[in-house]
Amino acid sequence: MSESGPAISNLQADGAEYPPPPAFAAAARINSRGVVTDADADPVAWWEAQAGRLTWDTPWTRALDDDNAPFYRWFTGGTLNVAANCLDRHLPDRGNTVAFHWEGEPGDTLALTYRDLHDRVCRFANALAGLGVARGGRVAIYMGMVPELPIAMLACARLGAAFTVVFGGFSAEALRERMNDFGATVLVTQDEGWRGGKTVPLKANADDALDGAPGVTHSVVAQRTGGDVNWTPGRDLWFHELEAAASPDCPAEPMDAEQMLFVLYTSGSTGKPKGIVHTSGGYLTGAASTHANVFDLRDDDVYWCAADIGWITGHSYIVFGPLANGATSVMYEGAPGHPAQDRLWGIAERYGVTILYLAPTAIRLFMKWGDQEPAGHDLSRIRLLGSVGEPINPEAWEWYREHIGGDAAPIVDTWWQTETGSIMISPLPGLDTLKPGSAGKTLPGIHAEIVGEDGQPVAGGEGGYLLLTHPWPSMLRTLLGDDDRYVSTYWERFPGKYLAGDGCRQDADGDMWLLGRIDDVMNVSGHRLSTIEIESALVDHPAVAEAAVIGRADPVTGEAIAAFVTLRDGFEGDDRIIAELRDHVAMRIGAIAKPKSIVLTPDLPKTRSGKIMRRLLKDVSEQRNLGDVTTLANEEVVSAIADMADAMRGQED
Ligand code: WT7
Repeated sequence: MSESGPAISNLQADGAEYPPPPAFAAAARINSRGVVTDADADPVAWWEAQAGRLTWDTPWTRALDDDNAPFYRWFTGGTLNVAANCLDRHLPDRGNTVAFHWEGEPGDTLALTYRDLHDRVCRFANALAGLGVARGGRVAIYMGMVPELPIAMLACARLGAAFTVVFGGFSAEALRERMNDFGATVLVTQDEGWRGGKTVPLKANADDALDGAPGVTHSVVAQRTGGDVNWTPGRDLWFHELEAAASPDCPAEPMDAEQMLFVLYTSGSTGKPKGIVHTSGGYLTGAASTHANVFDLRDDDVYWCAADIGWITGHSYIVFGPLANGATSVMYEGAPGHPAQDRLWGIAERYGVTILYLAPTAIRLFMKWGDQEPAGHDLSRIRLLGSVGEPINPEAWEWYREHIGGDAAPIVDTWWQTETGSIMISPLPGLDTLKPGSAGKTLPGIHAEIVGEDGQPVAGGEGGYLLLTHPWPSMLRTLLGDDDRYVSTYWERFPGKYLAGDGCRQDADGDMWLLGRIDDVMNVSGHRLSTIEIESALVDHPAVAEAAVIGRADPVTGEAIAAFVTLRDGFEGDDRIIAELRDHVAMRIGAIAKPKSIVLTPDLPKTRSGKIMRRLLKDVSEQRNLGDVTTLANEEVVSAIADMADAMRGQED
């Protein structure tokens, strides 16, 4: 809660309410409160029943092992293979069912059935095995949204090798840091990606990253655009050649329930990304259970989560949850506005999408593009909508329901995190009355509390810290290589309870209203970025003496990155240096981290103890009254910054 205490204010007023449509409720998977109250009374029994959705090679002997809390373990003694659960077990009944309707940005398409996917995953698993990847191995994946991405993830799972997917928008440097921290021996990448009609030089970035990653012996390259790439013989191998040469016969070996499945790096409140560790049995149980229950999945649904697999949303709700449930999904490669602003609605119509899961930032973008874009398409098959990534403002919620959901589809506003692995708080669409802006209640088997600074539950309706108070199967197990940071980040402040890092309040009906992050983490377009990470990238530039970064409210992206920078003596503060600094951040972290605005200032506002007052900078850039500045050491600096903040609002991407 940085320098100014728990200033969690509730900005959303309670308004409209939407009970579940009777026909929807009647047919829903969960439509009785009793299911939820039973689960809450005995969460471990609930999760054991949910684990029964999966096919286990050996049953577990202990569901929840809390002997070494907070290093919890789930389903110990049990063995299963994640890839076999996502593929093999569907072959007898759903082998010819489409797992992915994939659509490339240029308009090319590929329908992959469960049998196709099984065949390709087995071949690629054998190919990886040929490169020395085995149980416990480490593979990094740096790709766009191509079919080879889930194939590579599942191939690793089949072998019991852990993977880390690095979002294709990250820079070479970010990839290098993650590969080294993870200890990858093989990288899977592609020649180039398609984004907004342009190519993204994934292999060229990967080549740069590999320069400083001596542990990686092979780079497997999927051919997507056919563009020219540099080639290092011996190290670089074509994905399609390995796949074609490999045997399709690859028996799925049983893995321990606690076998590491993947690590996904996410920003924390220090500069170093946190490697969130997820394991096999518990993670898949959480992803499969919530995917079925929250999205009320039926056999004939066509489900589309339009996230990127490079984030946890894509891991849990494009790859593992849907495939474990035998679902038919849509997967789209490119930008939402290419070649035109109705691209998504064309796709939804073409495949007859029934369930759509989007981020509020995308919804606000579509609102801005206008009602006519979805209106030009038949979206009548859509029966359920989802939202994830940040609080959704009631206006966007209502637009989503009216223009995409035909004024009828329930919306599930799902709260969760990379750390939680699966959805924790969400309405159940056949049971709960929806309130625009509220994420509803904890899911069955999930227990939460909202507490004040003293750790005591706050009085009804007040804002406080959101805690999860009972372990759940898809929880992170630790931070890779840093057990101490795992404990101090999540479990120390309120002992025995998981600190989510979000503010929240609960209304009289028990519905949750998320109030944003309480630490130095911003939420830009539904992605978590740490202010300190971007500050470090700025300070790394030779012209920069000091930098402070904040997220300022933005109508489309939720928060926009605003930077305040003091230059070293001898450097000229002009537009050129501003452009250079923005590019420098893109180079160090990736284009998503580029500050939207940079204000050059002779000094930064600091407390008497020398701490930068980010809260104050936020107020200045959002044009709020400056409130209490009595702890400020260098008061004159504020008015100087306020003057310059106007100029900042003119700068755009
Ligand atoms: C943070 C987690 C989980 C998938 C995407 C982001 C915010 C996420 C909601 C929501 C309000 C939300 C929180 C959370 N968040 N969903 N429905 N309502 N806030 O994953 O990068 O791990 O970020 O996103 O602040 O802590 P992530």
